[in-house]
Amino acid sequence: MNDRQTVIVLDFGGQYNQLIARRVREQGVYCELLPFTTPTAKILEKSPIGIIFTGGPSTVTDKDAPRVERALLEAGVPVLGICYGCQLMAHTFGGVVSEGPREYGRRTMSVLESKLFEGVSPTSMCWMSHTSYIEKLPEGFHSIAVTPTCPVAAMACEDKKLYGVQFHPEVVHTEEGGKILHNFLYNVCGAKGDWTMGNFAAETIAALREKIGDKKVLCALSGGVDSAVAATLVHKACPNLVCVYVDHGLMRKNETEEIVRVFRDGQGMDLIAVDASKRFLAALKGVTEPEKKRKIIGAEFIKVFEEEAKKIGAVDYLVQGTIYPDVIESGLGASAKIKSHHNVGGLPDVVDFKEIVEPLRDLFKDEVRACGFEIGLPASIVMRQPFPGPGLGIRIIGEVTAEKVKILQDADYIFREEIARAGLDKEIWQYFAVLTNVQTVGVMGDERTYDRVCGLRAVTSVDGMTADWARIPYDVLEVISSRIVNEVKGINRIAYDITSKPPSTIEWE
Ligand code: XMP
Repeated sequence: MNDRQTVIVLDFGGQYNQLIARRVREQGVYCELLPFTTPTAKILEKSPIGIIFTGGPSTVTDKDAPRVERALLEAGVPVLGICYGCQLMAHTFGGVVSEGPREYGRRTMSVLESKLFEGVSPTSMCWMSHTSYIEKLPEGFHSIAVTPTCPVAAMACEDKKLYGVQFHPEVVHTEEGGKILHNFLYNVCGAKGDWTMGNFAAETIAALREKIGDKKVLCALSGGVDSAVAATLVHKACPNLVCVYVDHGLMRKNETEEIVRVFRDGQGMDLIAVDASKRFLAALKGVTEPEKKRKIIGAEFIKVFEEEAKKIGAVDYLVQGTIYPDVIESGLGASAKIKSHHNVGGLPDVVDFKEIVEPLRDLFKDEVRACGFEIGLPASIVMRQPFPGPGLGIRIIGEVTAEKVKILQDADYIFREEIARAGLDKEIWQYFAVLTNVQTVGVMGDERTYDRVCGLRAVTSVDGMTADWARIPYDVLEVISSRIVNEVKGINRIAYDITSKPPSTIEWE
């Protein structure tokens, strides 16, 4: 157990809800995102030092609008309401929230004196996105910020430590947003800043050591950052960890070697690397339909892992790389399934174990990476770009063969090498080559060629839910195109994918 300070971010379904939570964490304060339906008693049980209400798509005066009990606002815990959360606070205390004036985008805001605005410039840009506004403040509150059209851009009841902001302090377009959140957390809630990855790693390793001791633990390493960091934390805590890495033969060039080098040679882990590439290729023979390929790869993966698990026998614990976004239950609705995702989450059924351990359950992705560096993993693992479970199997359009895998690995390697050389690897979220099923005519030397088209995909994104195609400079694309066509036999044409997500997806299958 630890006594870390906690802030509760109460989710009203706003698009920036996870961003708010991340911003709080970035300030060195641990927070949890809970749906607005969480009972007041349950929230207060966590002894939060502060509560933040997120924005949301609803109108607070609607009959079915999400609400909170007044008791939550009167519990003596500081509250910051953002956008919908601000209107909800006003409404709950008897203020009047009405339609218009609407504001979208950047607005100039002037602030008055308040604990929330200490050190904030008198005028600055803020980011607005609202259709309702606070027409009349509730008793005890006063306006602490205005824009040319919004008389209550922020409000406060300083005695009760209740604050509301109509704008979004969490987005980068609000110039003083970081400072304002900092003021709420440190000046109003009395945060100490005890949430650091150094603390987290040390506490987690100690807790794992106490819980697991010398019992037997199993972990499926995928090469991805989550399972890598989870396994390494457990490895640092327990002497009896066995890691299994299933190589389906659909990894990127040199990737399997790198995984073995880092974890077995570098970290000294007991790592079983299973070369199952032949089995996967055999299972995929003649299959062209993307969903079918995904399902086959997922099922085969489970089979191979099951066989290895049987050899190892009963274990006490199974490590899973579950991270916080997988755990969060959103305030409103769930979304439709577009593709059947494969990751190592489907393993529990096939392993004989007593309990699952999920050391990263509380971390956002960027925190997982920071923790990875903290415990000594190299950048090649920690900063690894997202890679789908079915690997190159869904980047080869049509049937997957050993020859095509080799062609794609080589093309992809060149693409990655040149992106890194151009210094673009940090700003592009994900970039990879795709081997299409299209053959076109070309000429090399005096010879006619009839080879494949290689697609290049590079996107900027925050979480993979939406993405924009990366504006790679033409001269970099030129080098990549020329190198791939010259160095990779079997490709004679390059196409650069200029679609965003939506309407496309990031992967081609
Ligand atoms: P899409 O293609 O759906 O991809 O826009 C969004 C992100 O998810 C990755 N992806 C996967 N990750 N198992 C995974 O663990 C999968 O089956 C899978 N399919 C896609 C994709 O690379 C992108 O980052």
